[in-house]
Parts: sequence; C-alpha cells; structure tokens
Amino acid sequence: ALVSLKQLMDDACLHGYAIPAFNVNNMEQMLAIMGAADAVDSPVIMQASRGARAFANDVVLSHLIKSAIELCPHIPVCVHQDHGNSPATCMSAIVNGFSSVMMDGSLDESGAVPTTFEQNVAVTAKVVGMAHLVGVSVEGEIGHLGSLETGRGEAEDGHGFEGTLSREMLLTDPQEASDFVDQTGVDALAVAIGTSHGAYKFSRKPDGEILAIDQLRQIHEKIPNVPLVMHGSSSVPPELREIVNEHGGAIPETWGVPVAEIQRGIKFGVRKVNVDTDLRLAMTGAIRRSLNTCPSEFDPRKYLAPAIAAMRQVCEDRFIAFGAATQA
Ligand code: G3H
Ligand code: 13P
Ligand code: NA
Ligand code: ZN
Repeated sequence: ALVSLKQLMDDACLHGYAIPAFNVNNMEQMLAIMGAADAVDSPVIMQASRGARAFANDVVLSHLIKSAIELCPHIPVCVHQDHGNSPATCMSAIVNGFSSVMMDGSLDESGAVPTTFEQNVAVTAKVVGMAHLVGVSVEGEIGHLGSLETGRGEAEDGHGFEGTLSREMLLTDPQEASDFVDQTGVDALAVAIGTSHGAYKFSRKPDGEILAIDQLRQIHEKIPNVPLVMHGSSSVPPELREIVNEHGGAIPETWGVPVAEIQRGIKFGVRKVNVDTDLRLAMTGAIRRSLNTCPSEFDPRKYLAPAIAAMRQVCEDRFIAFGAATQA
C-alpha cells in the first residue's frame, strides 16, 4: 500500500530502526527494490530526483509507482521526491502520486547557492502548508552537505561551490535544527554531519568514526521525536568498485560511509538513510561484467537481469543492516 513518509517514520521511531531510501529511475531499479523488500519483509522508501523524473517521464514514473504497489500489496511503500528545489517541483510530484516530498531549501532554486535560515524556513513552511492538506509528508534540510576533509561545499548537482565552507557551515547546529522544525512543521529533517553525495566522500579508508556523531547526538537530544535523515550515505564498497574496474571501468580509489557508522547514527535518531551511488555501482558492475564476459550477446535482458540481481542484493543488505527487514 502507498503510505506517507510520516507513517513509516512513526514506526521506525517507535522501534528504533532506519529505512534505506533508494533512488529509482526505471523499471529495473523498481523491480530490484521491491524484490529485495519482499524477500526480507521491509517497508520501502523509493525516491525519485528531478533528474529521475526528467529521465523516466512523469507519466511513466507515476505508473511505475502504481505497479510497485500492486506488485507487493503487503509492503508499505512511500514514494518520495528527492531534493525538491521549489514548491512547484514538490506540488507536481504530489500530482503524480508521490506520498512524500523533500523541500531542499538549504540551497536556492538553482541548486548553486546556499540560502539563509530565514529563506529556508519560508520556502519549506510553504510546502508543508500545502502538502499536509493532502496527507503528504515533507522532509526538510538544515545545514550544508560537503566534505569535512576539504571544506568543499556541495551544490545540488554534486559539483562543489567555488571556495570552501567552514566546519561550522558543514555541520547542522542543534538549536537551528530545533527552531527549523518548530517554524516549518516538517515530518523529517535531513542533517549535515559529514556525509556528501556521490562516490568521492573520503580520500582515505575510514579508520574509526568519520562522521560528526557527537553533533548528531546533540541534535537528537534537542529534538528526540524528529526522525533524522542522512543523505549521501552510500558505503562505496571496494568490491563493487573493483567489479566495474575489472571490466573496463576506471573509478579511482575512494571511500564512502561504512555501514557500521550508519548503524551508530541509527542509535541517535537517524530513521531514513539515502542510498543511490551504491546501487549505481552494483548495476554498472553487473552490466560491464556481463557485456565483457559474453561479447557476442546483444539481448538487453541478458545484462539487465544480472543488473537487477546485483542491485537487489545491495538493497537486501541495507534493509537488514539498518534494521528495516521484518518491519513491513
Ligand atoms: O542526491 C542525488 C541522488 O543521488 C540522485 O541523483 O539527481 O543524478 O538523479 P540524480
Ligand atoms: P549517495 O550518493 O551517497 O548514494 O547519496 C544519495 C542521496 O543522498 C540521495 O538524496
Ligand atoms: Na543540501
Ligand atoms: Zn541527497
């Protein structure tokens, strides 16, 4: 059944687990997510970015959503707009059947310029006012994602800002987080605690704590009942990168957020964990391997079936690791 993010977050808060939010762009990815959820009995958050909606077409995507729900009627499914950049994007998602939207007001509508607290509150509160009228949940974001290693801030498209951001700007302030929730009424809050989008999060193999877990603890203490969201939470497993590289790819050495670190975050109120990059790596590795090992094959199903299987395995692993398995 289609459910709102709030419905899923309420149960996750009650039982102390997190739900991975997987990005979806096409039928193969939808089948991978739903197959994994069905196998481990997990609730689902499927999220589509603006790029996904442009790629798949809103009409096709809205039917893909419906087919996912019909495929697994026993699984609660939240369909979420990832990184909405404006009220218009959020409203058109709702019209197309999404049950939850992120209004990412941490950046301006172009996605290139960090906003002030007041600007973020204003645009987010506007979306909450409209979405809640029709039972749709809203995720907001306070703080600016970016690399704690380099201070390089992150624009929405994953390219950095010119210049660098201070450590203070790169970490969500607990008091600001609390004020933001009070003034907007968001159902979930994305926080900046040292994660960043894409494959290139850390230049060295993480050794112990790499996120600002103490900052997260302080945020959670301030707003214990607010479900927190971690963006940029792919783990970038070396073994997935190696499959790509063994079959003609060229992805430089890089490190993501270890699953153990996400599990630590779940102890401090993280209830939604965004994962896209790991799914991309799994699919691309499987497709490269398939094409490379069977060069005479040209039936797309021959490489898309292994791609679905590889992505499905990552989804199952994350459902289990974050405690969402068996919670459907
Ligand atoms: O946060 C970004 C997600 O990984 C989606 O990426 O905008 O390229 O679809 P995208
Ligand atoms: P990754 O790039 O770490 O998978 O993060 C995805 C994300 O945050 C989508 O909103
Ligand atoms: Na942001
Ligand atoms: Zn994100």
